[in-house]
Amino acid sequence: MMDRNLALELVRVTETAALACARYMGRGDKEAADQAAVDGMRKAFSDLAIRGTVVIGEGELDEAPMLYIGEKVGAGRDTDPEVDIAVDPLEGTNLIAKGLPNAIAVLAMAPKGTLLHAPDTYMEKIAVGPKAKGCIDINAPVEDNLRAVAKAVNKELRDLTIIVQDRERHEYIISKARELGCRIKLFSDGDVNTAIATCFEDTGIDIFMGIGGAPEGVIAAAAIKCMGGDMQGKIHPIYEEDHARCEELGWTEEKRKTVLMLDDLVKSDDALFVATGVSNGELLRGVRYLENNKAKTQSVVMRGSTGTIRFVEAEHRLDKNEILIETLAKHEQ
Ligand code: FBP
Repeated sequence: MMDRNLALELVRVTETAALACARYMGRGDKEAADQAAVDGMRKAFSDLAIRGTVVIGEGELDEAPMLYIGEKVGAGRDTDPEVDIAVDPLEGTNLIAKGLPNAIAVLAMAPKGTLLHAPDTYMEKIAVGPKAKGCIDINAPVEDNLRAVAKAVNKELRDLTIIVQDRERHEYIISKARELGCRIKLFSDGDVNTAIATCFEDTGIDIFMGIGGAPEGVIAAAAIKCMGGDMQGKIHPIYEEDHARCEELGWTEEKRKTVLMLDDLVKSDDALFVATGVSNGELLRGVRYLENNKAKTQSVVMRGSTGTIRFVEAEHRLDKNEILIETLAKHEQ
């Protein structure tokens, strides 16, 4: 079992990523914001007592100099646990560039070999909270899933709230949900946050459906597993280059028909999930800057083995944290 202190140490990693990029809020430069988050996260990993391999990251080695797929991270002593790591240092790059809510810095970690090595394409996804566990079927029509979930959560269809990314490709979901009289919450970006929202009852969100990033799907699955919810996915390339990429990585047309159950996305029950808010959102408050070079963050830490969910509030001195000083200076902040 992974050391329980690791869960809390991981908070520093997403906190650093969030603090590294939050000053880019509303400045219209999503690449710079992402780069700062990656840089901060990469540096914060170096002290951790793990032998980690990035299985979901910023891309292949030739396209990403840091947190690339296959990169080894952590202090890496022989006695340290071997783990798979899935990172999204800034989930919602457009959100932060435009100063919109719901951007987070996020990562999932699990014992070696237990996180799905999802290709960097799209995934069709469906997610629900614990009450509707076992009631979803990604191959069934939208209507069947909405009715099954409504029954499981004991609501009329008119009170059922479905969250969907605002994309033309989701018209088949939106029109069916409207026809049935369900409530629909559309969001512009950031489908890790929104998939997880189904597991927090007081968000009022009952079901998440749609096609989004496959890497984001695996990260969300780690949290959903920790919280006892349910999720299914299917690799679903959209653009021509995505199809080519899938074939290259062995995700043939035949293999893409496989329904990835929650236990396929995240095999271990011992996963960790950590996220820090960058801008205020459904799940977390964003970075707030205070007087005298201080900033506050809010994070969530989940541990699959015990099911504990912790919210961590922290106040940081931006001029006293070596990693941050270096990162912020490098990005001229
Ligand atoms: P980025 O942080 O990489 O910009 O991703 C944001 C996001 O909204 C994801 O949450 C989602 O999975 C994906 O983009 C959807 O892709 P697209 O914008 O191509 O529809």
